Amino acid sequence: MNECLAFYQGDFVKENNVNISVRSKAFNYGLACFEGIRAYWHEDSNQLYAFKLKEHYTRFLQSCKVLNIKLPYSVEELCDITIELLKKNNFKSTTYIRPIAFKGSEHIGPTLKDNDDRIVIYCQPLGSYTGKDRLRVAVTSWTRLNDNMLPPRVKATASYLNSALASLEVTSRGYDEAIFLTATGHVCEGPGENIFMVRKGKLITPPPSDNILEGITRELVMQIAREDLGIEVVERSISRTELYAADELFFSGTAMEVTPIIEADDRIVGNGEPGEICKRIKEAFSNLTVGKIEKYKDSCTSVY
Ligand SMILES: Cc1ncc(COP(=O)(O)O)c(C=O)c1O
Repeated sequence: MNECLAFYQGDFVKENNVNISVRSKAFNYGLACFEGIRAYWHEDSNQLYAFKLKEHYTRFLQSCKVLNIKLPYSVEELCDITIELLKKNNFKSTTYIRPIAFKGSEHIGPTLKDNDDRIVIYCQPLGSYTGKDRLRVAVTSWTRLNDNMLPPRVKATASYLNSALASLEVTSRGYDEAIFLTATGHVCEGPGENIFMVRKGKLITPPPSDNILEGITRELVMQIAREDLGIEVVERSISRTELYAADELFFSGTAMEVTPIIEADDRIVGNGEPGEICKRIKEAFSNLTVGKIEKYKDSCTSVY
């Protein structure tokens, strides 16, 4: 894997040769933000499609702005660099791309003022994130961060300690993934994915004001449901016990894609099988990510 090429500070270099100081503020204080992007390999057309690149880099630069990280690249330039990187690596399978912007400064002290701002982009083949096609989840005792602490709208590396603690707790107890509640007790999201619930034929998901990351896959799931499947979508707060009353639950995310939840806090969801609405959305998602649906072709950038 480390034989892969990465992009670091303006050059394409062997990932092994990326040399980041142990003194960097990114390492010492987590002063960094990142993105997770997928490029989908389509065997039939012998093509790799970078998915929703523009949306990911728009969110990346928004995260940089909040962290006072100034990169010398526009969204378009970052998209071009990423396509070039994928090409140079000659990937012929579905790939995960991880751009990280960080404070490289080596001075002691957790300040975002220093100007030594850096970027690295690395990538690797990635199939299924969990290796499972259905998940058993549990609500974690760790509360989700809120906008006045460590803003969930920003993909700050430091926020993922909150995610990692939740994951450790529930996976140690034998569950596949955690669900966070907000400080007010509402259902929020998973450690690295948004959550959807189906009740009485409606698709319901927590609003950004419930401290979720504004997921790119979440937005797409809502679009598919509304425009292609004619399903009513509601963004509203969800109470914990609604998870137990739900007809369907599923996660959405770049790494997680669209994955059904069949059990929450030891309660069977629906009939214990992946739900019909989830299955239809998942199918549409897997077709459109490889450029098979005309309407969504704009979201797929051909690498080769
Ligand atoms: C905390 C969190 N929520 C939700 C998501 C899903 O966002 P997206 O669909 O943009 O990948 C992610 C992944 O980036 C995440 O880390």
